Amino acid sequence: MVMLDIPKAELHVHIEGTMEPEMVFELARRNDVELPYSSVAELRSRYEFSDLQSFLDIYYANMAVLRTRRDFRELTAAYLRESARQGVRHAEIFFDPQAHLARGVEMPAIVDGLSEGITEGITEGAGSGVTAELILCFLRDQSAESAMDTLRLAEPFLDRIIGVGLDSAEVGHPPSKFTEVFDRARELGLRAVAHAGEEGPAEYVREALDLLRVERVDHGIRALDDPELVDRLRREQVPLTVCPLSNVRLGSFSHLSQHTLPRLMAEGLMVTINSDDPAYFGGYAGENFSAVREHLGLTREQLRQVAANSVQASFLDRERKSALLAEVDAWTE
Ligand code: HPA
Ligand code: ZN
Repeated sequence: MVMLDIPKAELHVHIEGTMEPEMVFELARRNDVELPYSSVAELRSRYEFSDLQSFLDIYYANMAVLRTRRDFRELTAAYLRESARQGVRHAEIFFDPQAHLARGVEMPAIVDGLSEGITEGITEGAGSGVTAELILCFLRDQSAESAMDTLRLAEPFLDRIIGVGLDSAEVGHPPSKFTEVFDRARELGLRAVAHAGEEGPAEYVREALDLLRVERVDHGIRALDDPELVDRLRREQVPLTVCPLSNVRLGSFSHLSQHTLPRLMAEGLMVTINSDDPAYFGGYAGENFSAVREHLGLTREQLRQVAANSVQASFLDRERKSALLAEVDAWTE
């Protein structure tokens, strides 16, 4: 597939959303978790979503099979192997600890498993040039107190966590609810990103910038409803981690050909392309690039720019950014 392997950074992927149906069944068997489906095919047939919540319901239900450090390790290693096949040279990976803590899985099992998975994925498949970092996401449909407790629990592991994010059901859960938690995270030296303007209004994007002081906006597609906000995003070159296949599968656009990614780019915004929850939405990072090329007619040079944006918008240091940008530059189909 064209564009599949252009070198890039993936900045918006939920590790729990990379669990393929086969792995859901394998872990259910190993951990003695009962599933309400009798086969992989039946599970896959449920992946018809009408909106974000309809997806989140099945996403949280499936992640109940993740119980041990080994589970988190295998999940992460598998993601890195597949995404590396699709050109991902660096990944900043979201994880949802609150969802696991609620089932009695403890923070050390989660973070140790994820970091071991990064090491294993790189040494056994992805390749030694690949790097990855972890971003701890707070569930915005839970309380600010719960988020603060989670951050406290994560403090012993901050050497392996690069930043915090905000995800889950957006509408009715504005960024402002988490101002204090993000202040504390910044005090601890963490970087900050947040989902905003996926289903929620452009105002949530403003709040994420002004109150949470995020360095990137995850999704951000609804910003186009607000021309003044678009001007600001252009002026400040705020990176948007757009997830084209996700937006179609969750009903923001009726078809990929209707996606506003070309408009975001024409407005001069700093757009990146990412997979979000590839096991659910039909494609990893490279497949999102390919699909956009096919259905939105972006040129190879436009997509090279998007790949370069992903490197610039990452939390990598200057040296590694330069090396990766050179790889993007040198890439030919
Ligand atoms: N939006 C919000 N929360 C999420 C998503 C998403 O696309 N994927 C996993 N958690
Ligand atoms: Zn997301």
